[in-house]
Amino acid sequence: MKENIKRSPTREKLIVNQETDEDLILNISLRPSKLTDFVGQKDAVENLKVSLTAAQKRNEPMEHTLLSGPPGLGKTSLAHIIANEMNTKITATSGPAIERAGDLIGILTNLGEGDILFIDEIHRLSKTVEEFIYPAMENFEIDFVIDKGPYAKTIKFNLKRFTLIGATTRAGLLTAPLRSRFGIFYYLDFYETADLVKIITRSAKIQSISATLNEEPDTIVDIVEPFLLKAGLLKRTPRGRELTAKAYEHMGLVHNTEEKQKEMF
Ligand SMILES: Nc1ncnc2c1ncn2[C@@H]1O[C@H](COP(=O)(O)OP(=O)(O)O)[C@@H](O)[C@H]1O
Ligand SMILES: [Mg+2]
Repeated sequence: MKENIKRSPTREKLIVNQETDEDLILNISLRPSKLTDFVGQKDAVENLKVSLTAAQKRNEPMEHTLLSGPPGLGKTSLAHIIANEMNTKITATSGPAIERAGDLIGILTNLGEGDILFIDEIHRLSKTVEEFIYPAMENFEIDFVIDKGPYAKTIKFNLKRFTLIGATTRAGLLTAPLRSRFGIFYYLDFYETADLVKIITRSAKIQSISATLNEEPDTIVDIVEPFLLKAGLLKRTPRGRELTAKAYEHMGLVHNTEEKQKEMF
């Protein structure tokens, strides 16, 4: 599958979020995977481009990022887009799924340099888990306590430098110490009608083409489309994806002359 969601049998249980299996399959295929496919949210997207470029130039992981906004506006999509644009792995979990600090140890120690840990509904982390995550975010280390009573010892464990992306529908519920450990904040706002039409049209197009060709939507976007673009049969315009004159010719159709003229300039 396209997305690098890390899964191992023992951690499988933790690496889940509120999405049902059906949601997951549909969303993975319909979710935009590149920033250029992400519709609207101009402010967030412009700022994100700057942060991505800066991190890539410094060859460093992006700063911890908090995405907030109502459900369905693209927080999870953006987290995956960031991973894709940074060319890193993403491990996805959610606040309520991490019950004990111990649950998090496995996840954190498995992260590689520059990997992304996505925690959905991050305002729902328990207090102990939240406190455990502070040194991980701040200094990329975690403190284990081993033994009890007079023999208790704290052992520091160094983590790889990762990026935590938190998503929340209730930014106001985040505690001040957690919030202060994020370096980047994006707020996703409701879409204008024109953007909504684009989002729906995009999803509908991918779904209908894939139904016609009997291919997974993923395959269309990841394999078929780049091929058509490269072959010069398809182009991306501000109006969406359009066939080129070459494509019309290939299919033996008449190409609108007005369009043809536009292409000559
Ligand atoms: N800006 C966007 N551009 C294109 N599709 C979007 C955008 N925002 C949301 N979507 C679509 O809506 C669905 C839900 O988005 P998602 O990222 O899961 O939202 P959230 O995590 O904020 O609840 C995605 O599968 C995607 O198809
Ligand atoms: Mg989500």
